[in-house]
Amino acid sequence: MNIQGKVVLITGASRGIGRAIALELARQGVKRLILMARDRYKLAEVAKEIEAMGVEAVAMGIDLTKPIFVNVACAQVWRSYGPIHLLINCAGVAHQNSFLQSKLPQLQEELSLNLLGTYTMTHLLARRMASRREGTIVNVSSLMGKVAAPTMATYSATKFAILGFTQALRRELAENNIRVIAFMPSLTDTDMVRDLELFRWVMPMTPEKVAQALIVGLQRDSPEILVGWQSHLAVWCQYLAPWLLEKILQMANPQAPRRLRLFEKLRQLLTLKPGLFSNIHRFSDLSLFRNLLSFMSADKL
Ligand SMILES: NC(=O)c1ccc[n+]([C@@H]2O[C@H](COP(=O)([O-])OP(=O)(O)OC[C@H]3O[C@@H](n4cnc5c(N)ncnc54)[C@H](OP(=O)(O)O)[C@@H]3O)[C@@H](O)[C@H]2O)c1
Repeated sequence: MNIQGKVVLITGASRGIGRAIALELARQGVKRLILMARDRYKLAEVAKEIEAMGVEAVAMGIDLTKPIFVNVACAQVWRSYGPIHLLINCAGVAHQNSFLQSKLPQLQEELSLNLLGTYTMTHLLARRMASRREGTIVNVSSLMGKVAAPTMATYSATKFAILGFTQALRRELAENNIRVIAFMPSLTDTDMVRDLELFRWVMPMTPEKVAQALIVGLQRDSPEILVGWQSHLAVWCQYLAPWLLEKILQMANPQAPRRLRLFEKLRQLLTLKPGLFSNIHRFSDLSLFRNLLSFMSADKL
């Protein structure tokens, strides 16, 4: 897809990945960006940054879990600033919990924004795009929409659902010349993950890198865009050796039982003290090291 000169609507554009995508699209020379989220003040700041790059920006404060308001806003936006060529459904929310301690209101929040919000926006704009026989829709799922992770069961469920929704729509709307794409970032350093207990060994990406990966995917016309080598590795591992991925996910679980942390302690020991092995010259050092290992394997750390 050539994004130059296009009109783009992005939800969740006030911060995080949505904001980074908006700024990257402005850099790439789109004609106009329509920014949606609840926080009008933050949206106005993003709009100002975009306008400073010479691109038109429209900030629209709206709660996407309120379909009636969304309906009115979409009609108004299409009339005043349309037609919209590219819709990016990026707004989302995540809760992390041991499933046994999970609460229904958190699931309801995830469902009403991640799933119903995406449905409402897509439904309203796809019908207008279909009448012009032109449009692209990007639904932001997640690596967790491909590989489910412990402590994120309900969030993973919404992201798997977005992937299924996207695949079905891709086949259905192709006859209206509408492309439907799934975008799957992995762990990204945003407000969303700030309060989460992070999975071990997963390195967060910056929102800017994630936004650049989306642009590359759009230019290549990829139907599904995975972000980063860790995501590709995880998806291939799930395909080729699901038992291995299962073990890794158990160990990476931030709420895993203590005995699973042995591997982590060893890793920390080796990375934080790289000179440890080279310093083992004397017998006393060796026996110290052996005692340390037996202490760790006895699950006392
Ligand atoms: N961060 C990650 O590690 C990661 C990984 C994979 C996928 N993702 C996905 O990427 C997307 C963006 O995530 P992020 O990390 O950028 O999260 P974030 O920093 O928390 O931003 C979430 C965005 O959604 C908007 N939003 C939240 N509730 C809303 C509502 N009811 N109505 C309208 N807008 C609402 C927020 O704006 P307001 O608060 O102003 O409304 C904000 O702009 C999400 O779909 C997420 O699932 C994130």
